[in-house]
Amino acid sequence: MILNYFTPRLNPGNFIPSGPSKTGMESLKFSINPAQLPKHIAIIMDGNGRWAKMQGQDRLFGHYHGVESVRITVEACAELGVGYLTLYAFSTENWERPVQEVSGLMELLVDTIRKEVPTLNKNNIRLHVIGNTGMLPEKTMTVLGEAIKETSVNTGLNLIMALSYSSRWEMGEAARQLGMDVKAGKLDPETIDQYCFQKYLCTRDFPDPELMIRTSGEHRISNFLLYQLAYAELYFTSVLWPDFRKEHLYEAILDFQTRERRFGKTSEQLG
Ligand code: IPE
Ligand code: IPE
Ligand code: MG
Repeated sequence: MILNYFTPRLNPGNFIPSGPSKTGMESLKFSINPAQLPKHIAIIMDGNGRWAKMQGQDRLFGHYHGVESVRITVEACAELGVGYLTLYAFSTENWERPVQEVSGLMELLVDTIRKEVPTLNKNNIRLHVIGNTGMLPEKTMTVLGEAIKETSVNTGLNLIMALSYSSRWEMGEAARQLGMDVKAGKLDPETIDQYCFQKYLCTRDFPDPELMIRTSGEHRISNFLLYQLAYAELYFTSVLWPDFRKEHLYEAILDFQTRERRFGKTSEQLG
C-alpha cells in the first residue's frame, strides 16, 4: 500500500520519524482491551499543508505523505478488528482551495485507490464513499465506482472515505429526499422521527462513530458528521496527519477506553 508512483518526486529532507520503539508500540497495542474497541472510528486527517510548509515544500507534498498515514491507519484498524473507519479526506468546502491543490488531490486520490484495491481485497477491507460525489471529476468517479464494486464482498473492516463531504450538505440532501418521498406519497410525514431521518443520511448503513480523532491541534469539527457524532468521544492530538502512526492510534483508543460513556445517565445508573 505505498505510493510508489509519487515517491521519485518526493524528497523528505531531514524528516526523522519520532515515536516509541517497536517494543514500546507493541506494548501500547497489547494494553488495548479488545472487548472495548470502538466499533467505529472517524478521523479528521488534518495538518498536511502545515507539515509540508515546515519543510519548505508545496502543500501537495504533505498530501502525498498523508497517504502513507492513511495506509498505516487502515492497516492498524484492520489488525485490531475495528469494524468501521471513516476518513475525512476532502470536504465540500475544500473545493474552494487553489485549483492546483484540488486537481493534485484528485489525481492523488485516483492513483491511490487504483493501487490499493488489491491490498484492500487481500485484507478483506470493504470500501465505501460518502459525500457529494457528483462533484468529483468523472475519472475519479469511475475509479471509485470500480473499487467499491471490487471490494463489495469483503467482510472485514469497512473503510468509509468522506469525499466532497460535509454534514450540512448531507442533512440538506436528506431533507430534500424526505420531501420528495412525502410528495410522491411514499412517506407519511406524521411518521418522521430521528430513526426515519437517519435512513436518509449517507451513513444509514453504518453505526455512529464512537471515537472521533482530529490531528493537527485544531479543536473543531469542520462540518464532519455533525449528526452522527452526537455521543462520540472526541480526541484531539497535535500530531500532524503525515506524522500519524500506529502508536498515535493506539494512544487514542487507550484514551477512549478510560472514558465513562454515560449517554445522559448518571454514573450510578451505569453500575
Ligand atoms: C488536511 O490537511 C487534508 C485536506 C483538507 C484535504 P490540510 O490540507 O487541511 O492541512 P493544513 O490544515 O492546511 O495544515
Ligand atoms: C477538514 O480540514 C477537512 C478534512 C480534513 C478533509 P480543513 O483543513 O478543511 O478544516 P478547517 O478549514 O481547518 O476547519
Ligand atoms: Mg486543514
